[in-house]
Amino acid sequence: MFPPPLVKLQEVTQRLQQAQKRVEVLWQEPESLAFVARGREYRSEFHINDSDEFTYMIKGTMNLHYRSPEGKEEIIVIPEGSVNFMPAGTPRFPPDAFALIVERGRRKDEVDRFQWFCPKCDELLHEERFVVADYRADPVSQAYKNFFDSEKARTCKSCGNVMPKP
Ligand SMILES: [Fe+2]
Repeated sequence: MFPPPLVKLQEVTQRLQQAQKRVEVLWQEPESLAFVARGREYRSEFHINDSDEFTYMIKGTMNLHYRSPEGKEEIIVIPEGSVNFMPAGTPRFPPDAFALIVERGRRKDEVDRFQWFCPKCDELLHEERFVVADYRADPVSQAYKNFFDSEKARTCKSCGNVMPKP
């Protein structure tokens, strides 16, 4: 990468806000992938990928929902100006909040998983799997569309509850 990119985060967040876009990729290299994400009105899945990653909250607060090794849902609150090392989970933050996220690029054949759990009995409802070759393709939005377009995917095999569309 030459010249090395110099990024002004405030300019990126302004561009995302004005264009109402979700993600701007800052760079995408095999060992380093960086992007700024604008929050979403709604998020409910747990996103699992094999890369370590950290988050810096540029603006606003993130509630990071994750599942402990015992499967219990826990929440880490990440205030504006804070950094955290991120376990697999759901970053929940509103559309007027922005996060810088740094991880490594996906390795060959690595698969990202998006899991939903039954809101009634907490059984695994559905899993979407994606090979994320290019983060600009917005895999999160694609996973949500597949899940919410399918009533079968949202129907719990254990208790029969149907998770409603947001
Ligand atoms: Fe259920």
